[in-house]
Amino acid sequence: MSLSNKLSKILIIDFGSQFTQLIARRIRELGVFSEIVSHKKVNIKNILQENISGIILSGGPLNVYQNNKFKFEKKILKLGIPILGICFGHQILSKELGGSVKKSNYREFGLATITKISNSILTKDFFNKNNVSNVWMSHADQVSKMPTGFKIVASTKNSKLTIIENSKTNFYGVQFHPEVTHTPKGKILLRNFLFLICKMKKNWSSRDQKLKLINEIKQQVGENKVICGLSGGVDSSVVAQLLSKAIGKKLTCIFVNNGLLRKNEEFQVVNTFKKKLKMNLIYVNAEKEFIKKLTNVSDPEKKRKIIGNLFIKIFERYARKIKNVKFLAQGTLYPDLIESKSVTGSQSSKIKSHHNVGGLPKRMKLKLVEPLKFLFKDEVRKLGLELNLSSDIISRHPFPGPGLAIRMPGIITNEKIKILKEADYYFVKALRDHDLYHKIWQAYAALLPVKTVGVMGDNRTYEHICLLRAITSEDGMTADFYDFPKGFMQLVSNQIINNISGINRVVYDVTSKPPSTIELE
Ligand code: XMP
Repeated sequence: MSLSNKLSKILIIDFGSQFTQLIARRIRELGVFSEIVSHKKVNIKNILQENISGIILSGGPLNVYQNNKFKFEKKILKLGIPILGICFGHQILSKELGGSVKKSNYREFGLATITKISNSILTKDFFNKNNVSNVWMSHADQVSKMPTGFKIVASTKNSKLTIIENSKTNFYGVQFHPEVTHTPKGKILLRNFLFLICKMKKNWSSRDQKLKLINEIKQQVGENKVICGLSGGVDSSVVAQLLSKAIGKKLTCIFVNNGLLRKNEEFQVVNTFKKKLKMNLIYVNAEKEFIKKLTNVSDPEKKRKIIGNLFIKIFERYARKIKNVKFLAQGTLYPDLIESKSVTGSQSSKIKSHHNVGGLPKRMKLKLVEPLKFLFKDEVRKLGLELNLSSDIISRHPFPGPGLAIRMPGIITNEKIKILKEADYYFVKALRDHDLYHKIWQAYAALLPVKTVGVMGDNRTYEHICLLRAITSEDGMTADFYDFPKGFMQLVSNQIINNISGINRVVYDVTSKPPSTIELE
């Protein structure tokens, strides 16, 4: 029996919401283990064998009367396990218990204020002293008739049945999304569900996570060998260390220098992993191969695909040299996954092909080990500390797989790479020197594909624009630009222009995500 079967947990039944992973994350943040299962795969026998203390029904894009498009296992209503329905989950729970759902006269998207109607254990500490709370809504349908045995806990102006409960059966429904940060007290509501209604005890920490992941890697890999694409960033470093703990010398890390790394990165990676951590590490200098393949390519998606495919080709080339290699380990994170293709196969529109996911060749010969694919960046960082990786590695800003290629819109040339590496170096150095590096989630320099006129000394210049981007974020899915004091920007701009030939103008990107993305391509 796996560790996850023994642990008391919350089962989240996913109906395709883009926030399902956030529900799992919030629950884990509250110190409780949670697992997600697609609505299509709910199996009552498994539920009975496992130690499930509560069930959450997620939101989703469908209407509850589109019965042929989703599966609802009615038997879960007879198990005596507390259930919390969120958004679509609230609607389907209500419908299945005899209520009805209809299109709302007023669709509610975004912030809404809900008012307390009656006391509930679910909403302990959730309302302010005026009996209201702000929540985040995203629905077009609403519950129009309450199921028998339920009472109203809270309403909005437009939707009477915003929170309902049946405290005898321990069934609860909320029309809004408590899992998103825009519902400021959403976590309190989830906390009440876990600890007051499901009566759970804390059982989930970075240490538990580490043990579970190591266990799963052992089971997946068996006696086979694994190669791990190491980039030196937080994610792949944590993956390498996890694998090293799970399978020891059956792991070989391959570090590919694609020529699109930050300045001196290759030396730092070899030094840390080969010399300090004593891992099996193969250093591959493939600078020329990458640059040749990228010649004259300016389309962002093409760049990503070329880089992703070439990475895999090189891994496979080296894998062939080591006997019994069946797996390739990657540091794919949850945000990489949902922005390329939803975990449940539901309709999240494609924004970019992150090279860990979208760029993989269709007929890849190695199977993937992706132990971090359900984790967010901050969870990975905590896990890294638990794995004794140095805080220097753990607190590094994220760096994308395609590297500087996607920070250089237009075609890629050796000259541009050289200029960009220097600009990035000066920017990041200034952040460190001014104690700003750790206040920022990610920062980088980019080179724009336009030249502008400047004047240096008494001479006209006609050179590149360097764009600086620095953002704050929780998990990379949304971001705000960092508001530097004016003096700092002037200083960095001077340092870049005075030290690097090829740049005569520095601009700062003040867009958030959305509407922009963090990277330029
Ligand atoms: P975007 O630009 O999509 O970036 O807002 C979100 C986060 O993901 C990183 N990123 C990548 N990471 N492979 C990666 O491993 C990729 O292809 C990739 N593209 C973007 C980006 O740096 C930011 O942290």
